[in-house]
Amino acid sequence: MSTPPSPTVAPASGRLGVLTVGLGAVASTLIAGVELTKRGLGKPIGSLAQMGTIRLGKRTEDRSPLIRDFVPLASLDDIVWGAWDVYPDDAYVAASRAGVLESGKHIEAISDALREVRPMQAAFERKYARNLDGEHVKPISSKRGMLNAIREDINKFREDNKCDRLVMIWCASTEIYIEPGRAHIDLESFEKALDADDETVSPAQIYAYAALLEGVPFNNGAPNLAVDAPALRQYATDHKIAISGKDFKTGQTLMKTVLAPMLKARMLGLEGWYSTNILGNRDGEVLDAPENFKTKEESKLGVLEDILQPKKFPDLYGDIFHKVQINYYPPRGDNKEGWDNIDITGWLGYPMQIKVNFLCRDSILAAPLALDLVLFSDLAQRAGMGGIQEWLSFYYKSPQVAPGLYPEHDLFIQLTKLKNTLRWIMGEDQITHLGREYYEDL
Ligand SMILES: NC(=O)c1ccc[n+]([C@@H]2O[C@H](COP(=O)([O-])OP(=O)(O)OC[C@H]3O[C@@H](n4cnc5c(N)ncnc54)[C@H](O)[C@@H]3O)[C@@H](O)[C@H]2O)c1
Repeated sequence: MSTPPSPTVAPASGRLGVLTVGLGAVASTLIAGVELTKRGLGKPIGSLAQMGTIRLGKRTEDRSPLIRDFVPLASLDDIVWGAWDVYPDDAYVAASRAGVLESGKHIEAISDALREVRPMQAAFERKYARNLDGEHVKPISSKRGMLNAIREDINKFREDNKCDRLVMIWCASTEIYIEPGRAHIDLESFEKALDADDETVSPAQIYAYAALLEGVPFNNGAPNLAVDAPALRQYATDHKIAISGKDFKTGQTLMKTVLAPMLKARMLGLEGWYSTNILGNRDGEVLDAPENFKTKEESKLGVLEDILQPKKFPDLYGDIFHKVQINYYPPRGDNKEGWDNIDITGWLGYPMQIKVNFLCRDSILAAPLALDLVLFSDLAQRAGMGGIQEWLSFYYKSPQVAPGLYPEHDLFIQLTKLKNTLRWIMGEDQITHLGREYYEDL
């Protein structure tokens, strides 16, 4: 099949308003990191958009510019922050409370910028995240009323801050598990469900719909449904609004999507994969509720099956025991510790084991992903690329894909896809890695 023509990209002129739903550990670490980078007080490590390069043309051409020099991304200096949260704390208080960043070095130095980010009242209902009890919540009980109020917030923010463009990213708590159902089938059903205060329409879907109605790209850093419902997906496609999700791929799943493709590439078998974590931040507290953990569990469990394709390889992966646990353990705060025990088999079925012990920092890993998603979804929007941005799968545990497609989880295939999309946007040749041309004259 031939490659479609490259799009025309509108310039990244003017201010980009970044609206985070939730101003907790991830969002405050994102904001602080960008503000520190702007002032030369920190480096955006982990951000492919800021630090990565991209090879163009043949290997002999030696053309590998920085991605940010190659594609017209918004400048960090043009970003203006907005947020909603269930608690009234500004980004300074939120960052101090989250305990991710060192106060003297990384919070006080930019306290003026952080103090300016004061959250708007949240569209929130306790039944979707029972372990939260903040009161900075819109005094509105109807879902339609919440939708209208979020739309007003978006428009007021755009005007007050003289933004040319906006992007929204869900960095709020993981909501309880909701299966896509009757309310989500099409726009008419979704509209009716909103008016009927149907409980399968959660606040995340309301924010997402408000964003779409205002022409704002929406990215979902958590595993809850939000924009991954047929009605909203269709709306985004029809109205050419960029959407992506779900669930930042940070610690254990990042490891899994590197190690599992390695096993499959070498045709090594797998008998079991036991993953457990301890985590002591507010995210861990919310996920301590079984209904909320179920949403996360679904997102984490799908990965192995999609990568290993047990139906195609029954001898290797036909009977895998896969378990994922997150245990709330306050003393560790945002510093998550993950253990993986992987029982594999080799030649003639001989057993071997791999152990992974990842002492990571949850929000330190998530913040650069959030930054890249914001910048790339703004790029996609300016390039007229509406609907699901599958090329952003690189950032997600549970990538959103078109109906009927299986998601691509292998981190390096995801990276190739992302870079080839950037090459395509800019009218450069795709890199296939065939490489016959280097040997033709030998
Ligand atoms: N940090 C990671 O590595 C990582 C990885 C994948 C996914 N995530 C997801 O990202 C999200 C944010 O993580 P975090 O560590 O910042 O959590 P957090 O608890 O520190 O912050 C979430 C914030 O969202 C707010 N909130 C909840 N419901 C809201 C609503 N309806 N409207 C507005 N605000 C609302 C909460 O009050 C809280 O301040 C979580 O869903 C988490 O599961 C994080």
